[in-house]
Amino acid sequence: MDDPVQRHPTRSEQLDILASLISDTVTNDGAILDLGCGVGYVARLILEKRDAISIVGVDRNADALRQAEENLSGYKSEFSPVEGDLEYISECAIPDRHYQAVYTALTFHDLPDAAKQEVIGYAAAALAPGGFFLLYDRIRMTDNALFPLQQSIWNRIERVHGAAMRTADSFDAYIEDLGTDNRPARLEDYLSWFPTAGLNPQILHLHGNVALIGGAKG
Ligand SMILES: C[S@@+](CC[C@H](N)C(=O)[O-])C[C@H]1O[C@@H](n2cnc3c(N)ncnc32)[C@H](O)[C@@H]1O
Repeated sequence: MDDPVQRHPTRSEQLDILASLISDTVTNDGAILDLGCGVGYVARLILEKRDAISIVGVDRNADALRQAEENLSGYKSEFSPVEGDLEYISECAIPDRHYQAVYTALTFHDLPDAAKQEVIGYAAAALAPGGFFLLYDRIRMTDNALFPLQQSIWNRIERVHGAAMRTADSFDAYIEDLGTDNRPARLEDYLSWFPTAGLNPQILHLHGNVALIGGAKG
């Protein structure tokens, strides 16, 4: 399986926390929605921890979905792939269910801000009362003066784990490297978009600029 953890030594813990949050809170027969499921890495982590649940995985990449089906071949009745573009989420053929959890991992930075807000609103509407929306992604760094602190975190990761994450030599290089298609949102944007969608946000785990944010549907 294409391994999203390999290049990011602290990522395995964060993805395992995301999977645990879901496997610990969803009840039997609970439906879960994975937005940007890729090759099914997180879905498999969840299904390895819990039975009697089902996951719908949405992605626009047909090859990734085929790979997800192969990677989850032991969970044929638990995992349903849906090909669709999250930028047009209302047109995606997502089964109409009361989802106990909706999650998205390492996908939001691919979406324009308007689509991010649209998807958060969709997730909130698709959740059953008491359900959770869990968003895991990089957060945009916005302050040149704070950049040396982020560099220190990257350097420490390399010292402790012997492997480096993608880094940048300066704040300007970081911004340039983001380009136009790599669009992590600011933390303050998420903290305003969640309540707009009716979700109370909470930061659940943070490592450097990679955050796991939870939203509860009241
Ligand atoms: C970095 S991968 C993460 C995959 C998976 N969530 C994981 O953590 O292993 C990002 C995924 O988001 C999907 N993606 C990006 N933009 C999308 C969009 N607009 N609609 C649907 N899927 C999208 C990509 O095809 C890719 O599979």
